[in-house]
Amino acid sequence: MVDMTSLVSEIQEKFKIIGRTEELKQIALAHSVGKNILLEGNVGVGKTILAKAIAEYYGSNNFNFFRVDCSEELLPHNLVGYFEPPLVIAKGYNEDSYKYGPLALAMLNGGCLFINEINRMPENTQNSLLTALDEGILEIPKLETIKAHNDFFVIATQNPAAHVGVTVLGEALKDRFIWINLEYQTPEEEISIIKQEANINSDRISTISQLVIQATRDSTSIRRGSSIRGGIDLATLIDQYGNSRSTKNWVEVAVMALYNKIELEDGLTQSKKEIITNIVLAVLNKTDFQ
Ligand SMILES: Nc1ncnc2c1ncn2[C@@H]1O[C@H](COP(=O)(O)OP(=O)(O)O)[C@@H](O)[C@H]1O
Ligand SMILES: [Mg+2]
Repeated sequence: MVDMTSLVSEIQEKFKIIGRTEELKQIALAHSVGKNILLEGNVGVGKTILAKAIAEYYGSNNFNFFRVDCSEELLPHNLVGYFEPPLVIAKGYNEDSYKYGPLALAMLNGGCLFINEINRMPENTQNSLLTALDEGILEIPKLETIKAHNDFFVIATQNPAAHVGVTVLGEALKDRFIWINLEYQTPEEEISIIKQEANINSDRISTISQLVIQATRDSTSIRRGSSIRGGIDLATLIDQYGNSRSTKNWVEVAVMALYNKIELEDGLTQSKKEIITNIVLAVLNKTDFQ
């Protein structure tokens, strides 16, 4: 048994992660028994920062960290590797003419393969991961069969399937991951994150910023509310702008910070700008900070 509590606080401290104690414990538990980890959650809940921290933490002795950012264009050879035609002509099919991809490199060297937004990976690329993930074997035709190093592990992130523009991760691949879910953090934790990431001390600015993003999530006019990024941007902008006692300034920077980060319900009579404005006014009216 590993001492999870001190391990978790060490990770929090080293990577400046606020909260997420339970989730980090779950991640450490899954990793300690050699499981692949899939972090799922909405945009901005901290999937990438957690995955990077874990990857770095566990690879820190002999650090090997291979990152893949997925898109619809990611082909199997981007993951596994490929023969370079001119080199094949010169040298034949051997190691010298092969360009290893991140999956092959992570398996050969040990360390972490970090697959960001895995749900965007096309299905045939997903298939090239299957044997690597559960048997630790990767066959490279005309070259070799790689057996995974003991320290090889995979951590992946994905947005929930309900998101627009998100494809579904195949059953076979899903089956090979331990699932860890990330919800929004508590208001207190979000305020601390805003302070840290916007690099400000003001309780007033960070609290108002958190209340504003909270209100976008609670509003019945808004289908998808703002992530913590909206709060960080809002706090950063108002702090830089100067007079944070000015309602007009708050409204102006809130529109800048949030416009692209929220999605309205259909059939509303109010514009996005009006909705953001009303939220800011309500928060400023309600808070004792005015
Ligand atoms: N628990 C946390 N502690 C510190 N910073 C956080 C935390 N959660 C999110 N952040 C910050 O919020 C932003 C979004 O996080 P990120 O990991 O990129 O989200 P995702 O990958 O889920 O979209 C980043 O600036 C990140 O540093
Ligand atoms: Mg991310």
